[in-house]
Amino acid sequence: MAVFRRTMASGLLFTLSLALLGWAVEGQGNGRNKKEVSGQTSLYLGQHRDIWRPLMHTTVNLSEIRSIKSSFQVRTFDPEGTIFYGDTKNGEDWFVLSLKDGICMMQISKEDVLVSVAGGPKLNDGKWHTLEVSNEGKFVILLVDGTSGLEVGMQSKQTEEVLAGELRLALGGILINEEKLIVQFGPQMDGCVREGNWLNLSLPWETDVEELWPCYQNIKSGSYFPGSGFAIFNTSVFPIEADGEIKIDFWGDFHQMDGTIMSIKGSGQKPMFILETNNNTKEVTLTFGEEKISMKDTFRRLAITFQTDSLQVLQDTNEPKTITLSISLVSHPGYLTTWKEGRLAIGGLLGEGEENIVSQFLTGCLEKIQVQGRDLDLDLAVKRTSVYSHSCPA
Ligand SMILES: *[C@@H]1O[C@H](CO)[C@@H](O)[C@H](O)[C@H]1NC(C)=O
Ligand SMILES: *[C@@H]1O[C@H](CO)[C@@H](O)[C@H](O)[C@H]1NC(C)=O
Ligand SMILES: *[C@@H]1O[C@H](CO)[C@@H](O)[C@H](O)[C@H]1NC(C)=O
Ligand SMILES: *[C@@H]1O[C@H](CO)[C@@H](O)[C@H](O)[C@H]1NC(C)=O
Repeated sequence: MAVFRRTMASGLLFTLSLALLGWAVEGQGNGRNKKEVSGQTSLYLGQHRDIWRPLMHTTVNLSEIRSIKSSFQVRTFDPEGTIFYGDTKNGEDWFVLSLKDGICMMQISKEDVLVSVAGGPKLNDGKWHTLEVSNEGKFVILLVDGTSGLEVGMQSKQTEEVLAGELRLALGGILINEEKLIVQFGPQMDGCVREGNWLNLSLPWETDVEELWPCYQNIKSGSYFPGSGFAIFNTSVFPIEADGEIKIDFWGDFHQMDGTIMSIKGSGQKPMFILETNNNTKEVTLTFGEEKISMKDTFRRLAITFQTDSLQVLQDTNEPKTITLSISLVSHPGYLTTWKEGRLAIGGLLGEGEENIVSQFLTGCLEKIQVQGRDLDLDLAVKRTSVYSHSCPA
């Protein structure tokens, strides 16, 4: 159940037990431009910001902590991301709880000892799960939905340290350099946390974002574009098959979308390829260079295959239909260069210049996106704004 990367032999647990097992709360009235948020609020962790930056944080005096139990609920379809962080001594000793492959992972650093432990059930099924972190004697215990998830036992040869100083806590990000982590992971987390009880304290947290994004009541798996966001990839990350074929698939209710689904362009050029849907005409239009085809938006899947001498479009409806444009793609100016060093945007139209200026944003839910047969994870984009990468409101 638990995997140890390195054994741990110091008084780590004793300090952690109080210091790191929860998210305490200490609202500091301050003159800075910070907002205070209740620790029990429903909080969407995937809100756009610097990827490692916490969504909210707080500082509490260790001497004020009386309880060593914290509990909260979490809901996500995202397999990977930061949930919470705690530290003492201004970041010298720290604790990170994250998900990787859908499974809880704790990383702990105390003096010269680093520990990584992962295990328990997969949590990224889109359902609310209750996590409870506590300390019982020599054990740090993570309960998932009331049953055992992860347990770390540590025996110290040193006497217990007297706890003093401040504890910093952060949600959805960390306060140390990510290079200090033992196991690297992608920090962005399309997930929600609610009903937090942090060390039995009830003071507010602080956030410096303008406005907190909502957690939708019900969600389904997919990528949601609220009409203000997009994700950009370097085309070089998508391998071209030996036969020169490139295949891109979209699933979703195209009838409920509006805006640019995808655009591809080479540096300093006009977009080579644009796929857009129009909610007024109820049509999906595909543009490749000068060629353009429009289709009724009544399908649930659209598969686009770039071959060296043609472009194929498969609409999957009750009666699947394939449209083939016989155009020599390789003779199209810049085609291969665009695939080797261009940009691909999901959810917006790339501008003509070198910069990533994007317009005509998509509104709607893409239930699944695949490139070359693999699911596209929008968290891996080189640039991403205002997109719910792994969930859509349902
Ligand atoms: C922590 O305690 C010290 C001294 O007891 C006090 O000066 C400081 O303001 C406290 N900090 C917080 C965040 O309450
Ligand atoms: C939690 O706080 C409440 C109110 O401050 C108190 O009555 C209760 O005993 C505390 N529980 C624990 C476990 O410390
Ligand atoms: C993406 O491409 C840009 C320029 O074309 C380059 O500077 C950047 O390092 C690339 N990023 C990745 C993640 O490949
Ligand atoms: C599409 O149009 C309908 C009716 O005109 C409107 O209710 C709906 O919100 C629109 N959807 C999008 C995604 O723009």
